[in-house]
This record gives sequence, C-alpha cells and structure tokens, in this order.
Amino acid sequence: MYNYAKEKLILFIKETFDINDDKVKHKLQHTFYVVDNAEYLSKKLGLNAEEIELAKLIALFHDFGRFYEARDYQSFREDLHKMEHATLGAKLLFNDNLIKNFIDNRKYDSIMKKAIENHSKYILDTANMTKDEILHCKIIRDADKLDSFRAKTVSDVYTMANITRKDIEYSVISDKIYNDFMNEKTILSKDRKTGLDIWVSYIAFIFGFYFKESLEVVRNKDYINILVDRFNYKNSIAKIQMEDIRNKANNYIKQSCDK
Ligand SMILES: [Fe+2]
Repeated sequence: MYNYAKEKLILFIKETFDINDDKVKHKLQHTFYVVDNAEYLSKKLGLNAEEIELAKLIALFHDFGRFYEARDYQSFREDLHKMEHATLGAKLLFNDNLIKNFIDNRKYDSIMKKAIENHSKYILDTANMTKDEILHCKIIRDADKLDSFRAKTVSDVYTMANITRKDIEYSVISDKIYNDFMNEKTILSKDRKTGLDIWVSYIAFIFGFYFKESLEVVRNKDYINILVDRFNYKNSIAKIQMEDIRNKANNYIKQSCDK
C-alpha cells in the first residue's frame, strides 16, 4: 500500500506543482526523510507491520498542505501568512477526498486525518482521541521534528524560513524566547520577533519530543552543536546566550536519555 501511494503522490506533485521550485523540492525531500524517521521510531517502539505501514503513510501525507503553501505564499512562515498547512492538508485529503487518488482502502482515513491535522499544533490535545490515534500523532510529531534538525544542518535558511544568514547573525534573542528555552519550553511561533529567535525556536524542538529514542538520534547526530555552530553571532550578548542554549540543550538531552 505504501509503495503504491508513494508513486501516486510523486506523480501528483510533479503534475500539480513546480518541481524545480526550491521550496517544493525541499518539502518533497523532507517528506521522505520523515517517512524514514517514522519507520525507524515505529520499529524502535516495537510496533507490528501494519502499524509501521500506517506510520509511513501518515508521514508520506503529513505535509501535503505544504506544497500548496509553497505555491501560493512562497513561504512556510505561518506566523506571517496565517494559512495552516496541517489543516489544509487534512481538509484536501479527507474532506475533499483527494486521498482516494492515492490509497484505495478507507480503513485508515480517520486516524490519518487526526495525525495529519495535529502534526504541527503547538500543543497536542489528546482529549477524545483513542490510544492508537495518540500513538500515531506522537510518532509523526517526533518524526517531523527529527527531520527538522537534519534540514537545519544543511538546508538554506531562506528556503526554510524566509530569513537570511544576516537576519540570524546580526540579531539578538528576545527575552521571552530566551526564558522559554531556559524553562525547557518549545517556542510559540508568534512570539518570535527576530531572526535569531527563529533559529532558537528550532533548537527548542528538543523539548517537544515524546520518545527518548528521538532524543537519542539528536544526541548521536550531534545536532545541537551543529545548529549552534552554524552561525557566527555578532552581538556579544547573543553569543553568550547561544552558549547557554547549547549547554541547556545538551544537558536536557543527556538527562532525558540517561533516565
Ligand atoms: Fe513536516
């Protein structure tokens, strides 16, 4: 089922969007990394073959709305343009029934819809969700964040966030963002005021992971040090604060993994 859906999705993306657009390319590449992460986590969590296949299908379609966002807004900054890719993706696939073009079996629609529409919410509201729905929501949220770390080590920041290297290197961290980070909180997008706030908000994704297995990947790949070292912070206070952020993040990961 997964392989059929994958081939159909690739065809659909090629026919519907400009595959040479950097943002479309970036999200297509991201999609398949998230599938790999979802498979990795599902296996680590000891799920059966059907559950692993479902986790991969959710990952395959989780950012369906992003392709429309890239085309219509040329930006993934939802704090600026207010379009929610997760809501749009779930609506197009399951209310407008585009999912029928990719998967014949309707058995998984309900759980896929829940996982996709909730994958990027600041807080996951599990009230009224079944055990399986909660599990798959958590897997896709972790798998997505894990690939965000990989992407932030290599991808162009303008493609990802419509900011430049200069916007990050010549700015400061807002007090609220620094305090939230030090209190081990993920950052609310609308609280970000500067380029460096945006960069710090990506590092703060560590506080949103559900599974220790995800934090172990972050530790093994040394993502925190790579992200902190990616830029040369020109403001002397920001430079010191980024070291605080490095230490806080690395200690949090060490403590969580060693539990
Ligand atoms: Fe994603």
